[in-house]
Amino acid sequence: MSVIEVRDLCVSLKTKKGLHPIVKNVSFSVNQGECLGILGESGSGKSMTVKAFAGLLDKSFQVSGQAVFNGRDLLKESKESLRRLRGRQITMVLQNPMTCFDPLYRIGNQMAETFAVHTQWDKAQIRSRSLDILERMQIKDPAEVLEKYPHQLSGGMLQRIMIGIAIALEPDLLIADEPTTAIDAITQFEILQEFQKIKSGHQTAMLFITHDLGAVSKVADRILVMSNGEIVDKGEFSHILHHAIDPYTKLLVEKRSAVMARYRLALQKEASQ
Ligand SMILES: Nc1ncnc2c1ncn2[C@@H]1O[C@H](COP(=O)(O)OP(=O)(O)O)[C@@H](O)[C@H]1O
Ligand SMILES: [Mg+2]
Repeated sequence: MSVIEVRDLCVSLKTKKGLHPIVKNVSFSVNQGECLGILGESGSGKSMTVKAFAGLLDKSFQVSGQAVFNGRDLLKESKESLRRLRGRQITMVLQNPMTCFDPLYRIGNQMAETFAVHTQWDKAQIRSRSLDILERMQIKDPAEVLEKYPHQLSGGMLQRIMIGIAIALEPDLLIADEPTTAIDAITQFEILQEFQKIKSGHQTAMLFITHDLGAVSKVADRILVMSNGEIVDKGEFSHILHHAIDPYTKLLVEKRSAVMARYRLALQKEASQ
């Protein structure tokens, strides 16, 4: 069953000279327990696509099309109802972790507030789950980290905490926009496994935005490639690797020789069966 179905989504910037198109007729759907990867170079419209249907764009943009989430067209919902959806049914990991935390409050307080609003957990549960989340996100000394202010932690730590919160809320749809950019390769592996778990364990639908072919290959079932606001390629991961038509995708593919080697192995196995 599709959790989100986006049809003909267009986003334009309103300028004095008229509308400047940014996202052009983007359509896709994501099923329960499935992860769709959105790949594309910087500036290709990946973030704008998800921000448009999550209600995160201001009045300087015009948005058209449909984004049906569990039967409701998000583009018709009020700001307030979208705000309520975000946090419980839809959670987001945004590109810049610093902007997602309030510099004036301790991490533990901010986590507790989020969970108090979006879950039924009592105070003791909030405390134990917060510690558990930090541990799952490979953060050492979780009790101490809860006492810290955002500026006392690295970008990678904040990004992991944000991922932990987004996963812990067990949403129907999880949108992760470049979630692992600030996280070192070794920890990335563990974090990507947590994404895998929430996808299969809670039948969460996931949109995983990245320009990292290696990361997306670990979590995504299907991939969309965007360039200049349009979908230029789509399909299963192996299809993208072997039949990439878009020059940027080809370049990405060539750069990732390690991934290619793994895939060649998998294909050889397939061929010998
Ligand atoms: N606040 C903004 N005002 C005007 N244009 C913007 C704004 N944010 C993004 N854009 C433009 O929209 C295009 C797509 O941006 P974005 O979706 O953020 O790209 P991506 O996430 O793929 O790197 C870019 O060309 C960018 O210049
Ligand atoms: Mg972006």
